[in-house]
Amino acid sequence: MAKYKIAWMPGDGVGNDVMNATRIVLDALQFDAEYIPADIGWEFWCTEGNPLPDRTIEILKQTDCALFGAITSKPRDEANEELDPSLRDKGLSYFSPIVKLRQLFNLHTNLRPCKAYPGNPLNKLGDDIDLVVFRENTEGMYGGVEWFPLPEEIYTAMCAPGYGNPKMVKWKDKGLENVALSTRIMSKQGCESICRQAFDYAKKFNRKSVTLVEKPNVLRETGGLMTRVFRDVAKDYTGGGIEAWEANIDAICMWMIKNPQDYDVLVAENMFGDIVSDLCAGLVGGLGFACAANIGDEYAVFEPTHGSAPKYDGKNCVNPIAMILTAKMMLDWLGEDELAHRLEAAVAEVIKENKIATYDVKGRDNNPNSTTEVAEEVARKVAQPVGA
Ligand code: IPM
Ligand code: MG
Repeated sequence: MAKYKIAWMPGDGVGNDVMNATRIVLDALQFDAEYIPADIGWEFWCTEGNPLPDRTIEILKQTDCALFGAITSKPRDEANEELDPSLRDKGLSYFSPIVKLRQLFNLHTNLRPCKAYPGNPLNKLGDDIDLVVFRENTEGMYGGVEWFPLPEEIYTAMCAPGYGNPKMVKWKDKGLENVALSTRIMSKQGCESICRQAFDYAKKFNRKSVTLVEKPNVLRETGGLMTRVFRDVAKDYTGGGIEAWEANIDAICMWMIKNPQDYDVLVAENMFGDIVSDLCAGLVGGLGFACAANIGDEYAVFEPTHGSAPKYDGKNCVNPIAMILTAKMMLDWLGEDELAHRLEAAVAEVIKENKIATYDVKGRDNNPNSTTEVAEEVARKVAQPVGA
């Protein structure tokens, strides 16, 4: 029997290409796993009205963790149009299966390291960028509590004397049928957990600072709660030489482009973490290099930061390095340190040599290599001892 059971979820679009590529590398590493395919994504929405079938949830419950490629998400009206005609008018509505998985399995932490590997021609801002984003993964703006049109009772509650906002009346004037509402709900526990993990990580890996990304001057309650909790948690660590910095989301988008080397570990709630992690990916070569992990107390789903890029579906052309480094994060989480180390060293070498690379690195007119060729090159190197 294999040492690990891994749920295998390519999902949509280029998810299939990058997962196939990653498998070549995991096999070359002789990672001792049984891979259990699990259905997820757009196809299952269209044919079954459910992008995350119950059978998939059962598979996840029986595995150690999951590897996940990418998902296509479309806005409500488009999603309804693509639903099988026999399933229409049944009140089904599309939801993002990955957002749901994060909530269902309480994968509260989205860890997104963004490291510039030396020699990558896309490292326009330097080879010495090494950022790690801790994104709260189940709360905030992506908690799924939304309305359109705005129900009368919600409106009334928001106007209630004592805690409501008297300016709310303007929405009534516009007609509640014209008003949409998405909420940002954050708990003290959620804020504390993500802040503590960011500081624990900084301590473990000798990082110099942790920066909170928020907007408490406007989002006074949610941003205010996060900021207070961050300051409280920081007190337990700053004695150890870790600096605690605070930045507004808008300002940090500018500062990180100007002086990315100033930053180290970043911590944010769900939406700001989503935004800032794409920005960080852009600093180290783009989404083709950005790996990520959704981590809970008992389970984890490893998925790169990038999406399904439908226009490249089946073309075997996108960069598999983000997904391969995501598999490296899985090996870390499983405690397979030696394999993780070999895998990262092989990726670093392939990037440094800059001979075999996909179109995002080489350019379209420069004979770029395929997704598979990059994976095979990494696989060749993992099979050799480090430094050989
Ligand atoms: C990500 C993606 C997802 C998110 C989408 C596809 C739901 O942008 O993982 O960063 O916003 O979390
Ligand atoms: Mg994102």
